[in-house]
Amino acid sequence: MRMQRSLTILCSLCALLASTVAAAPLRPTHAPHAMVTSVHELASGAGVEMLRSGGNAVDAAVATGFALAVVHPQAGNLGGGGFLLLRTANGKIRFIDFREKAPASATENMYLDAQGNVIPESSKDSSVVGYRAIGVPGTVAGLIYAEKQYGKLSIEKVIAPAIKLARDGFPLAYEDTRDLRKDKHLAEFPESKRIFLRDGDYYQPGEIFRQPELARTLERLAKDPDTFYHGALARELAAAIHKGGGLVTAADLAAYEVKEREPIRGSYRGYDIISAPPPSSGGVALIEILNILEGFDLAKLGNRSADSIHLEAEAFRRAFYDRADFLGDPDFAKVPVAQLIDKKYAAAWRDSIDVNHASVSKDLKRPSFDELERVAQSRSTNVAIREPENTTHYSVVDADGNAVSVTTTLNDSFGSRVTAEGLGFLLNDEMDDFTSKPGVPNTYGLIQGPANAIGPGKRPLSAMTPTIILKDGKLFLVLGSPGGPTIITTVANVLIGVVDFSLDIQESVNAPRFHHQWLPDEILVEDRLSPDTMNLLRSKGHKLNVRHFWGDAECIMIDPKNGERLGGSDGRNNGKAVGY
Ligand code: DON
Repeated sequence: MRMQRSLTILCSLCALLASTVAAAPLRPTHAPHAMVTSVHELASGAGVEMLRSGGNAVDAAVATGFALAVVHPQAGNLGGGGFLLLRTANGKIRFIDFREKAPASATENMYLDAQGNVIPESSKDSSVVGYRAIGVPGTVAGLIYAEKQYGKLSIEKVIAPAIKLARDGFPLAYEDTRDLRKDKHLAEFPESKRIFLRDGDYYQPGEIFRQPELARTLERLAKDPDTFYHGALARELAAAIHKGGGLVTAADLAAYEVKEREPIRGSYRGYDIISAPPPSSGGVALIEILNILEGFDLAKLGNRSADSIHLEAEAFRRAFYDRADFLGDPDFAKVPVAQLIDKKYAAAWRDSIDVNHASVSKDLKRPSFDELERVAQSRSTNVAIREPENTTHYSVVDADGNAVSVTTTLNDSFGSRVTAEGLGFLLNDEMDDFTSKPGVPNTYGLIQGPANAIGPGKRPLSAMTPTIILKDGKLFLVLGSPGGPTIITTVANVLIGVVDFSLDIQESVNAPRFHHQWLPDEILVEDRLSPDTMNLLRSKGHKLNVRHFWGDAECIMIDPKNGERLGGSDGRNNGKAVGY
């Protein structure tokens, strides 16, 4: 009887937790020492647990990353990839690329049928759903590399919170049960259906979700971090993928390598911008946007006024036009980064903006800029890809002032929907971030160039934009979000909110978003933007596409006055800033 009562109380508590975590704060979360922001309170908490037990920001980020693989299966992952940007308290900057790679047997036209058409999502051979969509995962390599190079604690210690969450379970939030229930493809894969959909007896909000297979996999990783790429786990993973008809082999796993790259650097109104280099388009596009906007007095035009949104949308349009032509894996294609982030080039683009009227994307003419002309002419037609639905970002600042910004993804929500048999984790569909076929507009109309064609060992172009901003040489902002192409404009929106419109970090995360990506030629706006503003934008010639909301910015600001850590976590999902 007593046990039953305790159980009832536990369930009510869980249901309460599940129903309250989504509340969107109006003010930043304050903490004197350290802060972790992520899409899930338990994942942020895992990071803080490391910080409190002597770990640094990298230890916290790695613990949060592993915990997200348990509590946020939509995008937190072991079977995906991502980027980690680190700035140490003494100013060293490191960028770790653990993006997935195409398997050795991948070919440029592998997602085209005999007639040369893109194979649809409903087919087992598609680039989106099923075994053939899987790229060689990089997350485990990336997190373990970061921990070994820059962390202070042991691998066992930073994986421990994730093991506990997987073994003992955690209460599912409404948003999680909704995402699981509404997914169109999870049920097609028996292992995914069994684990995530309880064979059709869908989980309800507040119910405890336990993942024993995942707990075992994490325990194996804690004991032998090498096993994922070179040991028994690699062989089991490759065998599971092979059985399902996928391309990733044990040799692909053994050949996977994390890369440290030079991040992209720029400046905006005296602030230093540090962001993701290719194979992400994020940093280049962000800095190009900011360079164009630097010549306009946005503050005078006013936050979310039609005039300021117009100018920002015009800058977005131009940066996405360049993204389409020039960006891809820098290990395989020359990406003219220096030219694209040159302030003189941005000034030339700025001159093409009419402050009163919308430009027309199809008539856009790139300002002549020698190097870019040459590269553009050497490429063929533009290319389109389909855009996915889930990814996740987390930010950490520790008591010493080390900062980490990580964006990680399975690409679509729940990735390829394939769960590695017996291993308990979902695998990515990152192959879909490559160009499947030139000239075919995707669901979202995002256009890319041949620099992003599929090739063995290549990394697909990404939009993920983990970013760090310095003010007077000191850490000021840690930014990032999911959202496919909208990642770039969400990061720009949050940054401009703070820098130009003096919003605090929470206000800036909360503020209505808008997005332009060159094609389709329209501004995507969140529906909280005032109808008057929308009409003013229409009167300037913009077509608007009104959506409820998108993205999940998980950010941190340092108060320059007193060093306080201010968490800005997004109420659009279940984000939570946890600090001490
Ligand atoms: O790397 C990329 O750009 C994509 N795979 C990210 C997908 C994404 O953010 C979808 N999120 N909502």
